[in-house]
Amino acid sequence: MTTQELQAAFEQAYGRKAEKMYFAPGRVNLIGEHTDYNGGCVFPCALSFGAWLLIAKNGDQVLRFRSLNMPQEYAIPVSAIRPQPDRAWCNYALGCIDIIARRHPEAKLESGYDLLYFGNVPAGAGLSSSAAMEVVTARAFTEEMGVNMDNDKAYRTELALIGQACEHEYAGVMCGVMDQFASAQGKKDHAIYLNCDTLEFEHVPVKLEGIKVVISNTHSPHHLDSGAYNDRVRQCHTAVEQISKVHPIKHLAELSEDDWREMESAITDPIAKKRARHVVGEVARTAAAVEALKRGEIAYFGELMTASHVSLRDDYEVTGPELDALAEAAWQVEGVLGSRMTGGGFGGCTVSLVKDEAIETFKAFVGAEYEKKTGLKADFYVAEIGDGVSRLC
Ligand code: GLA
Repeated sequence: MTTQELQAAFEQAYGRKAEKMYFAPGRVNLIGEHTDYNGGCVFPCALSFGAWLLIAKNGDQVLRFRSLNMPQEYAIPVSAIRPQPDRAWCNYALGCIDIIARRHPEAKLESGYDLLYFGNVPAGAGLSSSAAMEVVTARAFTEEMGVNMDNDKAYRTELALIGQACEHEYAGVMCGVMDQFASAQGKKDHAIYLNCDTLEFEHVPVKLEGIKVVISNTHSPHHLDSGAYNDRVRQCHTAVEQISKVHPIKHLAELSEDDWREMESAITDPIAKKRARHVVGEVARTAAAVEALKRGEIAYFGELMTASHVSLRDDYEVTGPELDALAEAAWQVEGVLGSRMTGGGFGGCTVSLVKDEAIETFKAFVGAEYEKKTGLKADFYVAEIGDGVSRLC
């Protein structure tokens, strides 16, 4: 959809023009999975897919939510902002408005608003459509509510933290900060090497001569399941508690692989031990992958991606038959440097590094193998790495 088409859709919905328009992207994570809530590093990029938000003040003290993707519409009085039942989609927006007010005592919502959302992140694909919606809402309403932050970098980090808090409180997913951070701080043709403990980060150029980042969508009916996700978060806490009896730590990511060999026997819970083993290994792989990319060693980067998938499959147990089928088929294609699941898991997408000349074979072979194994049809997109959230007009 063009911005003119979005303007026209707003006018059709509300009978007048939108005053402002914003965009926030979804993300793909290259490596560093299930490390963010363990104080580790991640390496995501913002995509050119994302969420648009058009807004205009209205005369009544009511927030009206509409979306071009969802049939449900909501009208919530400004005085009654709280989580809505039945997984209402407006929770991703309402939560941000509520959290802005709580984190910024100076912030005031002085009027009602008409809002129109549009998203083109494939639904349920694990490419952070909800983070895009949170960050675009946080961007718009920090401005409307008068939050003043001069430092753009700190402001963008704050938008990510608002989005993450919304996900915790209004969606019940105890996620890390990666998705919202990528949506807020993305930079064209760069990945973000983020330390999720300190929130320090670096934009690293993604220079892949003759190689593309290809996203493959399982279209698997089960998407990020907050129950299974929150279980992983709890299992990691158990591992931290048990390790802390011999060596106090705050996060699993503090452990090097050498520390791990010394201390792993302190974890008596076998499930917690597997989860922790993944996290410690993934933190080391992520650091090695970033160094490899900086040195132009893309083949090694690819191997680390593949090792990441194996660990997520065997130790973290978040892949499932569909993601495994896609990754395992990709590994067989000549010209694929690496392939792994991306995001939370349990369905969603894989991310692969594929040589230009192998892309057509990749789509044909992986698509056919996947359909043979699962009965489902996969979709393929060549990722375009875009900028973080912005105001368009
Ligand atoms: C989801 C969460 C992120 C992160 C990933 C796994 O996308 O929202 O915070 O934990 O899963 O790396």
